[in-house]
Amino acid sequence: MEVFKTKGALKAYLKPLKASGKKIALVPTMGALHNGHISLIKLAEEHADVIICSIFVNPTQFTDLKDLEKYPRPIEHDLAMLDDAGCNGVFMPNVEEMYPFGADENWYIDLGNAEFLLEGEFRKGHYQGVTQIVKKLFDAVEPDVAMFGQKDFQQVLMIKNMLAHFKLPINIITCPIIREDDGLAMSSRNIHLSERDRKNALVLSKSLQFVIDNFDSYSLAALEEKAKSFYNNIDDVELDYFTIADGNTLEPAKSKDENSLVALVAAKVGSTRLIDNMIIM
Ligand code: PAJ
Repeated sequence: MEVFKTKGALKAYLKPLKASGKKIALVPTMGALHNGHISLIKLAEEHADVIICSIFVNPTQFTDLKDLEKYPRPIEHDLAMLDDAGCNGVFMPNVEEMYPFGADENWYIDLGNAEFLLEGEFRKGHYQGVTQIVKKLFDAVEPDVAMFGQKDFQQVLMIKNMLAHFKLPINIITCPIIREDDGLAMSSRNIHLSERDRKNALVLSKSLQFVIDNFDSYSLAALEEKAKSFYNNIDDVELDYFTIADGNTLEPAKSKDENSLVALVAAKVGSTRLIDNMIIM
């Protein structure tokens, strides 16, 4: 497995591969890898000949400086996992390489109204930062396909909108959420959970699963209300939102007949903010 720190070195590696017709997949990450990330690498193998994983903790998508500072960076462990998974190249730039003009360089694109809902409401500017770095990574790699996790449902939508904005010919593949045996969605942030938080964190997947299991028994409003009641009386868990939304617009679902419905949740468990979702249809 090759490791690249600069766009130039990465492009030089990819050029002959592309010239010989190899299909390139990009798996963007911020490191602190777990089996959820590795599932993206594995799925990429089905869609491309060469897999590039990027590891870059992107400052422009963090709305909380403390969150950025405490973001885990176990780089040796990450590289070993990627090597084991069969990844071909890792792109690990520093901040100057990705933001030569400083991390506050101008960037704004219209991502549609969904940018301001859910995560966008709680993390102002987050998706501008995400799409900014993903565009830079797409420019550096020019992949045929790029893999993203359904875990960040809204992120996939925002990236697709960014792609449409720039008319980029990249196939976006959404990969299923990988969970721990007890249902907790894997996340780089889970390591911050204390033993008690770790137990409490199960409320996210349980409340989502409740909606899936009881979808035919209640109205949308009742489902939402019952799911929210899971969060009552749990010490140290603070619900940011629980919603059943139209999967294309992320607006609250108006009826059960919409062609795409998803339940999404965000909650602070102790001092760790977690998100999760389940697709209803
Ligand atoms: P990060 O949180 O490291 O996630 C990298 C990719 O892994 C994302 O596409 C995310 O949805 C996916 N992922 C995370 N947990 C997963 C799980 N449990 N199952 C399946 N996939 C999972 O998302 C980012 O980084 C950044 O915003 C990034 C796109 C790299 C831009 O900086």
